[in-house]
Amino acid sequence: MNLNKPLVIVYNKLPEELKEKLEKVCQSVYVDKGVLEKDPLSVKELVKAEALLGSGLKVGKGLLDLMPALKIVTNISVGYDNLDTEELSKRGIMATNTPDVLTDTTADTIFGLLLATARRIPELDRIVKEGKWDKSIGPELFGMDVHHKTLGIIGMGRIGEAIAQRAYAGFNMNILYHNRNRAFEAEKKYAARSRTLEELLQESDFICVMVPLSTETKNLVGEHELNLIKDTSVLIVGSRGGIVNEQALAVALENGKLRAAGLDVYEKEPLDPNHPLLKLENVLSLPHIGSATIETRSKMGALAVKNLIDGLTDRKPVSLINANVWDQE
Ligand code: GLV
Repeated sequence: MNLNKPLVIVYNKLPEELKEKLEKVCQSVYVDKGVLEKDPLSVKELVKAEALLGSGLKVGKGLLDLMPALKIVTNISVGYDNLDTEELSKRGIMATNTPDVLTDTTADTIFGLLLATARRIPELDRIVKEGKWDKSIGPELFGMDVHHKTLGIIGMGRIGEAIAQRAYAGFNMNILYHNRNRAFEAEKKYAARSRTLEELLQESDFICVMVPLSTETKNLVGEHELNLIKDTSVLIVGSRGGIVNEQALAVALENGKLRAAGLDVYEKEPLDPNHPLLKLENVLSLPHIGSATIETRSKMGALAVKNLIDGLTDRKPVSLINANVWDQE
């Protein structure tokens, strides 16, 4: 072990080849995420660590005070709501994420979730496997069409656009979107039309929530907004939990205010098995798998390791979030 190499705390599993790559430049210590969350003081290496690698760990003042040597926090995720970027910037610590490499995979997941929810695929799979398929299914188990319907995308970023592309080119859907800025590319390529949040909720047959979680988007869709959705429409939540109010959603689904919901993300993950949403037949729930394919997770890991090594060897990481830290140097 070369003690001159910078110390890295890793709290995600990494494939062997990435471990080896990291070892060439750094000395890595693998720590359980739960331990970092619950008992960081027990991790004696924190004080010397210059980098932190993994996904989803909350990094704010408390942890940063225990890591005075920290130079870079590398997320293996595109989302970075787990990072207090203001505090990191104040302390001159770089933060990086893994955009682009997961865009198509995540759009595939979201579209799969949308199709499965509309056509009730898991529910019908259970009927077959449980030996309950004794006659042709009746209207009580029919799904709803996806093709030629109206899809409303809340958050027209990279992944939102990739969903729009699938919907427009593959399913002849009409695309509406709600975004901070106009998405001119999507308007041109997919005939997407900009709407206020209220208009989008009222007009769409399928609604995909794809905005990042921030103070502006927390609880963006609550009881009032859910009441605007047509009772025949389907809500898909694909970016982060906490944007749609889960309690309000469970009540709305139970009262038939919307037809169904497909969820990949939750306010608290892993989701409590007793969560009221899980008691509802018209909820399809996935365990946060947007980018979870062999190929894409491998690309994300490689990009995160590259960001980390670059950051520690005086090269600007390609996916630096707080570029101001670099500019100050
Ligand atoms: C997954 O949720 C990600 O942010 O990459």
